[in-house]
Amino acid sequence: MLVLGIETTCDETAAAVVRIDAAGHGAILSNVVRAQLDEHAPYGGVVPEIAARAHAEVIAPMVGAVLADAGLTLEDMDAIAATAGPGLIGGVMVGLVTGKALAMAADKPLIGVNHLEGHALSPRLADPDLAYPYLLLLVSGGHCQILEVRGLGDYRRLATTIDDALGEAFDKTAKILGLGYPGGPAVERLAREGDPRAVPLPRPLVGSGEPHFSFAGLKSAVMRAKDSGLHADADIAASFQQAAIDCVIDRTRLALESVRDSGAEGMSALVVAGGVAANAALRGALETLAAGFGLRLVAPPGKLCTDNAAMIGWAGAERFALGYTDPLDLPARPRWPLDANAAPVRGAGVKA
Ligand code: KG4
Ligand code: ZN
Repeated sequence: MLVLGIETTCDETAAAVVRIDAAGHGAILSNVVRAQLDEHAPYGGVVPEIAARAHAEVIAPMVGAVLADAGLTLEDMDAIAATAGPGLIGGVMVGLVTGKALAMAADKPLIGVNHLEGHALSPRLADPDLAYPYLLLLVSGGHCQILEVRGLGDYRRLATTIDDALGEAFDKTAKILGLGYPGGPAVERLAREGDPRAVPLPRPLVGSGEPHFSFAGLKSAVMRAKDSGLHADADIAASFQQAAIDCVIDRTRLALESVRDSGAEGMSALVVAGGVAANAALRGALETLAAGFGLRLVAPPGKLCTDNAAMIGWAGAERFALGYTDPLDLPARPRWPLDANAAPVRGAGVKA
């Protein structure tokens, strides 16, 4: 089966064609991502209205381009998958309405995909041997969660952030150091030239029995370190990245222990997804952690970690293979948690 995927929830406009075979294995036939870098650069962050307009300008020709690139037509598609949330609502509506229009015009089924489910299942597109259930660390610009992925649509959230997402912490550190946006890759590059022990920084919640993440205090400490004028930028970047990784490893270890001790079905792997999963230092640390629990680490290639439409087409394909489709009046959702039963966390700024 062939599925067209459309993604417009943040500042990347993306379209892709993916295939799922009878054995449930996936393949990417074409995959295009256009990041709205120039549009938002003057503002140092994503401006929702500008994002929505930029998506609207490029999505239709982009769909034509990915179909042509795959040597296929809209008629060849078995289903159209578009992200229906969560995200910046104007952008989500652009992609979802585009998907609906294509589905209607070509008389194809529509599948509204949860962006987070796209990230959560993308490792199965990259690695056909990855079986349910697995423990997922989902780290992006908007989200920082640990989830038990038990099956399609069956997610249990074990941890989330009580303030900032991990990617947000990278982006803010980049801004403090004047590295521009998006900051993650720039911080990682600069960190290679610095000493991770040079700047003393806090590790919020490390050692705590509470399962969640917190990065706001780390960000403030980075700001103070920069303002002090005592440290080289590369040392700040390296020390920040090390502190952030220490937090992630400690929280993920707690989650792995709680799953191991719960008597629940054993996890097949530790999986990391979302934009920050592109970070090589984080991957290395997670690999060591996973090995300590007798698990392998599965991390999709970088271009499947940051926002893309192949993951949306793939989640749509997994859904379609099980017979799920959505009506044409499916609403766009700014918030859409993967685990609707997860208990709220303390404090404000709860991420969906
Ligand atoms: O998944 P994604 O593309 O968009 C969201 O759904 O949020 O994630 C983008 C985030 C940004 O915060 C970006 O700075 C971060 O992922 N990121 C990285 C790296 N590459 C992207 N963070 C750290 N190291 C990287 N190499
Ligand atoms: Zn994302």
